[in-house]
Amino acid sequence: MTRTEWWRSAAIYQIYPRSFADSNGDGLGDLPGITGRLSSLRTLGVDAVWLSPFFTSPQKDAGYDVADYCDVDPLFGTLDDFHELQLEARRLGLRVIIDLVPNHTSDQHAWFQEALASAPGSPARARYLFRDGKGENGEIAPNNWKSVFGGSAWTRITEADGTLGQWYLHLFDTSQPDLDWTNPWVREQFREILRFWLRRGVDGFRVDVAHGLVKAAGLPDFTAPVHADVPGGAGSMNEAVDVPYWAQPGVHEIYRDWHNVLNEFPGDQMICAEAWVEPLSKLADWVRPDEMEQAFNFSYLETPWSAESIRTVIDDSLEAFGGVGAPSTWVLSNHDVIRHATRLGMNPPPPQGDGLGPNSPYQVHAELGLARARAASLLMFALPGSAYLYQGEELGLPEVVDLPDSARQDPTFFRHNGTKYGRDGCRVPIPWESAAPAYGFSPSGKSWLPQPFEWGSLARDQQLGVEGSTLELYRSALALRTELGLGLGSLSWIEGYGADVIAFRTGDLTVVANLGTASVELPAGTVLVSSQPISGTSLPPDATAWISAS
Ligand code: NOJ
Repeated sequence: MTRTEWWRSAAIYQIYPRSFADSNGDGLGDLPGITGRLSSLRTLGVDAVWLSPFFTSPQKDAGYDVADYCDVDPLFGTLDDFHELQLEARRLGLRVIIDLVPNHTSDQHAWFQEALASAPGSPARARYLFRDGKGENGEIAPNNWKSVFGGSAWTRITEADGTLGQWYLHLFDTSQPDLDWTNPWVREQFREILRFWLRRGVDGFRVDVAHGLVKAAGLPDFTAPVHADVPGGAGSMNEAVDVPYWAQPGVHEIYRDWHNVLNEFPGDQMICAEAWVEPLSKLADWVRPDEMEQAFNFSYLETPWSAESIRTVIDDSLEAFGGVGAPSTWVLSNHDVIRHATRLGMNPPPPQGDGLGPNSPYQVHAELGLARARAASLLMFALPGSAYLYQGEELGLPEVVDLPDSARQDPTFFRHNGTKYGRDGCRVPIPWESAAPAYGFSPSGKSWLPQPFEWGSLARDQQLGVEGSTLELYRSALALRTELGLGLGSLSWIEGYGADVIAFRTGDLTVVANLGTASVELPAGTVLVSSQPISGTSLPPDATAWISAS
């Protein structure tokens, strides 16, 4: 197979397996459920799917706590089910990317269980970051690092003989011990994990916490400066300062190594980094020619609804990624952030990870949010590079704000004693058919998070073929994006529209997005697609249109 570098321009759809489609009625989505619904993504017009983790896991962090990297959790099915899924994807012409979680394992992983049963200083302990505590009896954590999910990043264990013992590092939940990536044994295991899935024919990997694997030598204390650029403080994944556990230079050696592993295989596999690194010029290090192919553009995702800010982040992205020969990526939603149909209607939205709930001190403007989300998506699909979509955004799904506390499962909620809601609101199972049990998500009507009553009217069958629906907007835009080759295009700004308007040309297409409060006069030509109905030649506020010259 030749290397087509398909990922440079691909529209990639994130499937969150537990919330996509449930085939066996247990209320949790699974692989056969996905296989059965894949053709709907061909109809949508995407090029590839990325599956969030479906590996063996106690599900303490929805599968981002992996207990066996080379098997499927029975909740989701079997390796054979994954093979069936791949066959169906291939038949439909869809690529399949899977999630790799190398920063930490589950505490139920055999490696960690062995480490617990082994003595301090043993090779089994050396796979993780075990340290003695400070203080007279080792009762003080080895350093002051905080978990991203809240609380200390260290947990003290009870040794095999029943005495209190060493501490282990977990940048996330207690159930997610960090691996020690200075250990060659750990590196070799992950080479083999990559090969295992590459032999099975996956098209690529999304790499979880790709900025966190290497920690600064000596694990020095860190206190986040009180500074606007450090949202969320020391536990936040989005740091603009030198943090001893994020973006350490040593991570790049790992990705150069993986680049070589991918090269052992024929075909056109890729790796995309989940690295919350700013600025973009620094993130570009992850996609240098001998490292990964893509990195999520979270700077774009986090840019507020302002024409000037969006123009700037587009320029910065094209410059930073283009400077190292990589495509830019674009993304507005995923399973960790407030859905953009809600987020863009908030000014400002809560910090990433905090989530929304019934007592949040934030105002949600649902209609405004949806109008902006449709405009933002249409703008995004015109940009050169690769666009990531998160399941349900093509239906205009909002964040679910009123989940009962008893239903919540995100460790963030528990580690903050319910003072932060976390990410469950964007993870609610998606609606397929308005009249079916669980809106078609599950034949039994069960759903691991309750679906809002209003989602019946947003179900896919209520939107398919309905002019003006969000689903049809996405379908038209994605079809045109492919037909016109926009993902491989180049962008030139059009001046003269005023500060609140984004206007550019890509090939023969003119794209105008109106972020102001007054209507904007469109240029002459045919409106190919617009996020709101256009009367005459006037583009309303919070709308985007694509216009062809002819
Ligand atoms: C990022 C993942 O997207 C998120 O869902 C997870 O909780 C953390 N990494 C820890 O694996």
